[in-house]
Amino acid sequence: MLDRLETIRKEALDAINKAKDSSREAIEALRVRFTGRKGELTNILKSIGSLPPDQRPKVGQLANRYKNEIETAIKEALEKFDQKNSEETCIAGLDPTLPGRRLPYGRLHPVTQVMDEICAIFSRMGFSVAQGPEVELDFYNFEALNIPPDHPARDMQDTFYIDDKVLLRTHTSPIQIRTMEKLEPPLRIIAPGKVYRCDSDVTHTPMFHQVEGLMVDTRVSFADLKGILTHFIHQIFSDRTGVRFRPSFFPFTEPSAEVDIQCVICGGSGCRVCSHTGWLEVLGAGLVNPAVFRHVGYDTERFSGFAFGLGIERITMLKYGIDDLRLFFDNDLRFLTQF
Ligand code: DAH
Repeated sequence: MLDRLETIRKEALDAINKAKDSSREAIEALRVRFTGRKGELTNILKSIGSLPPDQRPKVGQLANRYKNEIETAIKEALEKFDQKNSEETCIAGLDPTLPGRRLPYGRLHPVTQVMDEICAIFSRMGFSVAQGPEVELDFYNFEALNIPPDHPARDMQDTFYIDDKVLLRTHTSPIQIRTMEKLEPPLRIIAPGKVYRCDSDVTHTPMFHQVEGLMVDTRVSFADLKGILTHFIHQIFSDRTGVRFRPSFFPFTEPSAEVDIQCVICGGSGCRVCSHTGWLEVLGAGLVNPAVFRHVGYDTERFSGFAFGLGIERITMLKYGIDDLRLFFDNDLRFLTQF
């Protein structure tokens, strides 16, 4: 029996020595084989009871000593194996103890941020957000807005036509018509979205963003238009920004105006950005032309309204002092992460 113990000890230590560089599993398997519940050494310890009484103490002591010895050897082999492995990983350039690299945050495009801000300002004044299709019918984009067939805005140079009757909307104004077809007055809507024009140079892109506004009720006057748009400009720029309304023309409004703000760069004293006028045009507006109301069947005797439209890229450029439109479309993170 003592010989058998010696053999097991020798086998175990040899096997541990061989397995120590191979894998954790190989080392663990030796624990099972020798000192596990049905291990070779454990079996001997279990059988001690059947030995002649005089042999029991000696065999017992030795078996226990070898069991400890084998278990210690296995433990050490595992520790060495783990240590060596993590050292190798570090040498390979990966140090798992270093803190992780921070992933960059995504953020909203500046145009989206300003679009959201504009909608928020008008929401606070009771306007709700409306939408319409980007692929639009000629009827909604032009005809119902009182833009006659020979109007220069229909020129092939400006409009992306899909066929005779279908086009990419050139402004957000068709949403006015679609909304009025669905709802009865009173109504107040704000409609942001993409618009398309066959135009591309340093200050024009074939796609840009507009926001349309429309308010219809009994007794809506030019004073309401002035009050609401002045409040809007004070909110989006600053309450010290000067505002002026200049007579203009749009087929869908009568009377019409263009709204200027005091130059945000020079404060009105005159600079290159405002062509030395001290003013910057920011939006078009007016009282809804009764011809438009007739297209949607509104009672022109009872109801009046105002509408306005503005370019979001332009507002964003003025708000943040951006001097190149192309920056919005380049997707350069050095630019985009500044907002
Ligand atoms: N749709 C016009 C454009 O794209 C902007 C505009 C002007 C919209 C006056 C309006 C308005 O609603 O009343 O240039």
